Parts: sequence; structure tokens; C-alpha cells
Amino acid sequence: MFKLTNLVRPNIRGMKPYSSARDEFEGEASIFIDANENNLGSMAANQQYNRYPDPHQKALKAAIAQVKAVRPEQIFLGNGSDEAIDLLIRLVCQPGHDQILAFSPTYGMYEVSANLNDVELKLVRLDENFQLQLNKLQGQIHSEIKIIFICSPNNPSGNLINRSSIEYILKSFSGLVVIDEAYIDFSAEESWTTQLSNYPNLVVLQTFSKAWGMAALRLGMAFASEEIISFLNKIKPPYNINEATQQIALSALQNTSRLPLMVNEIKANRDFLADALTHLPVIKRVYPSEANFILVEVSDANAIYSYLLNNGIVVRNRTNQPGCTNCLRVSVGTKDENERLLTCLKSYI
Ligand SMILES: Cc1ncc(COP(=O)(O)O)c(C=O)c1O
Repeated sequence: MFKLTNLVRPNIRGMKPYSSARDEFEGEASIFIDANENNLGSMAANQQYNRYPDPHQKALKAAIAQVKAVRPEQIFLGNGSDEAIDLLIRLVCQPGHDQILAFSPTYGMYEVSANLNDVELKLVRLDENFQLQLNKLQGQIHSEIKIIFICSPNNPSGNLINRSSIEYILKSFSGLVVIDEAYIDFSAEESWTTQLSNYPNLVVLQTFSKAWGMAALRLGMAFASEEIISFLNKIKPPYNINEATQQIALSALQNTSRLPLMVNEIKANRDFLADALTHLPVIKRVYPSEANFILVEVSDANAIYSYLLNNGIVVRNRTNQPGCTNCLRVSVGTKDENERLLTCLKSYI
């Protein structure tokens, strides 16, 4: 049985969060001399940014809630979804004792955050189609495992994880199930956010770094029950989303008309690139992708990686990842960039 208060680390349950000047006074006033800011202005253009940002990101969350069809209380905002990954681990995992589980090959930050927090990562291999092998989970789930991370679409393989397998884990695991949907906008599947009311242990991660094209601003989202979100808010650094990011994201959310156009163009470019790659002798296999990148198996990943680099093209060499021997991961570029990649690969001997 999932019970969040049992899962949250005892020191966090009883912890008093930092109370900022902006927490202690909300409302109308004419003189703000409560936060040791620079009241003369700032060195930034137009004298901007001398005030601390809203620690609760109210306006931004209201706008995200509309676009994502969730309530603002179900949203946590992080300095990238990487921050949410780290805080989720810190929320429920006792350093030196607890563990998290993920399915390899997958996104590298689950491991980095686990290591940083002195939490062991158990990796269970995906099958040859990069799907979950539920039989491999048997005997692996014990009470020290507090979080299962499922990346769907998965990085670096690009495929969606079967819904029925995820449902099985959500129903049978009594810790948190984090579904990382960084690439969901490029897939045909609906988000797991629609299932939040059915699963109290579900956390869905999304980001502004991919489809929204705002990687430099560092803005990630975690969607979950109000109870989980309020604990994340309690342990986050007070001003984790800076003012520039809040303003720019808000204006992007107020005019979303270009988003589906960009996403459709990236998907069309992906499908063109995937098809063209299958015809190249140097390519052994093109994995189906529901993301904005494609995993390809080549004849010799290290050699082709260096060859591309010598031609000014940087791809990601994934050959050392489990199940990815001789695989390169290629982000979908512009039409012109994709053509240049194809031309370059054609001349490889
Ligand atoms: C699966 C996955 N999750 C999360 C992230 C991190 O996203 P953010 O930029 O929001 O920290 C990435 C970035 O590559 C990713 O591939």
C-alpha cells in the first residue's frame, strides 16, 4: 500500500522549510525593504531583476495548469527536470540505505543524482526492443527501493514504454513511480498526467527544454498529487526558478500557436531522416523513434563518431550503454543539417 508519509524521510517530515521575505509578506505595500535587495535598480538592462522572483511561481503555474489540464497544486517547477529528479530522490531515499530502480539503457541523470545522494541505483535491462521485462523485476523489488524511474519515450532508444507494463508497476509498487516524459510532445501517446487521479504514487516529469525549445532557461515540471507536490515545494531551494525564466516562460505559454508547427516539422524531419538513414550501407539498424532523436546502429560507432566530428558534426556516441553496442544517437536537426549528415555518412568508407 502506498502511503506518502511513510515514504518521506523522517527528517523531511518534521523539517521547517525556509521562510523567505516574499513568504512572510504578500500584498500591497509601497516600500519593500524586507529582502536586502538593491532598491536603486540593477546593472542589468532596463534596471530589471533587482527583486527576488516569486518563490511559488504562481502566475507561471496558473498558465501551465491551463495548457496541461492539471491543477496548479499538482505542479512542481524545477531548475530543469533534473532538479525534480534530484529532489524526488532526496525526498524519499535515506542516504546510504535506500535504493532507486531504473531500466537500462536510460537517461544518465538518475544515476548521477542517485550517486550524489548516496543512494544505490538498481538497473534492470530493457529487452532487445527496449521494452520492460516484468519477469526480470521479480525478486528485485524490496522495501529499500523507494522510486522506480520509467523514461517514456526512452532516452537513448526513443521508444514509448508499453502502457500495460507501466500500469502493472503503478498498481503493484508501493513507492513512487516516476514517468519521465521529456520527449512526450513528439509522440502519439497521451501523457500520463491524465492518470494522476488514479495513481497516488505517480509522478510525471516534463520539460521546456525539448519541444518548447527553451533548454537554456532551465525549466522542468513534475506533476503529481497535491501531497507529493507540497513536499517537493518544502525542500526546494526558495528561489529555484529565476525571474527571467518565469517571465519568458509565461509569455511563451500565452502564445502557443508555433508549438504544434515546430513539433510537426521536427516529427516530419525525424521520419525523413529515419527513412533516409535506413538506405545507407554504414547504417545497420534504425530504431523507431517517438522522440526528437534517433538511435542508429552503425558498423563501427567509435570510428563513425570520430569521422563525423572531423567533419564538424557532433552526435552522441552511445556504444558503451547496455544494449547499445555500436549505436549513435542523433538529434533531429533542421532540414539542411539532416541533409549534411546524410551526405557526410554517404561518403564514409
Ligand atoms: C529523459 C530526460 N529527462 C530529463 C532530461 C532533462 O531535462 P531538463 O533540461 O528539463 O533538465 C533530459 C535531457 O536530456 C532527458 O533526456
